[in-house]
Amino acid sequence: MIIEPKTRGFICLTAHPMGCEQNVKNQIEYVKKKGVINGAKNVLVIGASTGFGLASRITSAFGSGASTIGVFFDKPASEGRPASPGFYNTAFFEKEAHKEGLYAKSINGDAFSNEIKQQTINLIKNDLGKIDLVIYSLASPVRVHPETGVRYKSVLKPIGEEFTNKTVDFHTGTVSEVSIKPAEGDDIENTVAVMGGEDWKLWIDTLKNEDLLADDFKTVAYSYVGPKLTEPVYRKGTIGRAKDDLEATAFKISDDLKEIGGKAYVSVNKALVTQASSAIPVIPLYISLLFKIMKEKGIHEGCIEQIQRLYSERLFTGNEIPLDEKGRIRIDDLEMSTDVQEEVAKLWEEATTENLSKIGDLEGYKNDFFNLFGFKVKGVDYDKDVNELVNIPSLQ
Ligand code: NAI
Repeated sequence: MIIEPKTRGFICLTAHPMGCEQNVKNQIEYVKKKGVINGAKNVLVIGASTGFGLASRITSAFGSGASTIGVFFDKPASEGRPASPGFYNTAFFEKEAHKEGLYAKSINGDAFSNEIKQQTINLIKNDLGKIDLVIYSLASPVRVHPETGVRYKSVLKPIGEEFTNKTVDFHTGTVSEVSIKPAEGDDIENTVAVMGGEDWKLWIDTLKNEDLLADDFKTVAYSYVGPKLTEPVYRKGTIGRAKDDLEATAFKISDDLKEIGGKAYVSVNKALVTQASSAIPVIPLYISLLFKIMKEKGIHEGCIEQIQRLYSERLFTGNEIPLDEKGRIRIDDLEMSTDVQEEVAKLWEEATTENLSKIGDLEGYKNDFFNLFGFKVKGVDYDKDVNELVNIPSLQ
């Protein structure tokens, strides 16, 4: 079939297999070119099919020759209906990994559930023995609690008072003011239940109880800080509370891992266009200004550049891992540098519908957004008939 993008707001309902394949190949190429990383050999990535999780899986496999198990929640294709991008990404990732003789198997289902944790345990026991590294990279709007069955929904709201600021509709380029009502009722608790650290700890506790963690085991979850500009809706909003909880959980997990010399880290990553970040009001305008400046300075990075640098310059250097005053790894250092932030703040004041395509990188934003779904990828012929029914080898 011929597959075209069908967007609804910040969601794209279709995905292109060949574009996803090319994206995966480009990321693999990048990691290989950067050279060998003396990293973990048996790696579990939770949230492995898109964004930072996919980049982590690719960096582990093609940077360190790791065997990888990826857990994610994606839709396979049906006749005339393309799969979700994470499904295609994983299918082509596995294909490339297997070509190089690398072990790569995947589990598609709800990572918050006991069933998927059990399936993962069985797979590790059967195939890998022990795990050296767990990357926790879930981004989800909902979580059904495995014990109580309660369904929590996360929200992206400020806390205390309404927040009004500029935002952009990245499809049309229209800059407008948006007002977001503050959290009410159980909004904060619900968001923490979905995006906080409880499930991360459950995963590590379960793996430890089953004796599946190797000596010197590491686990890393991803967080975000960002600038003053986005604080009310991000770091000081409901999602920020969840990130506070995630960050605090790293210390709890580290305590539990002392006996095996293991450690849990949070890495604060750069703002990037992913399915998760497109959904947050105000952030797309910030990102389009940020990208313009970082590209002009030659310091722009995407997910793969971020994670390759996280592995090669922070996690696996052989030296002590540098941490900030709150005990976090910072790979958002370039985004947060004073000169970059001063320039973004200045442009923020000036940004209008009329000038955004000039002073911001709206094109780059849009392009990255469509790339997430395998569209607008260089070298792909979108007029060509493609088979939407692609399988993930290990799930066949
Ligand atoms: P993403 O939306 O690209 O990836 C999310 C992954 O989680 C996908 O593989 C998806 O299949 C999986 N997933 C979602 N719900 C699941 C479920 N119930 N069971 C199993 N898998 C499930 O997200 P992105 O942006 O890569 O985010 C990953 C982490 O990085 C999040 O913690 C996010 O807060 C953090 N982060 C994101 C930044 C950004 O700008 N995008 C910046 C800094 C941190």
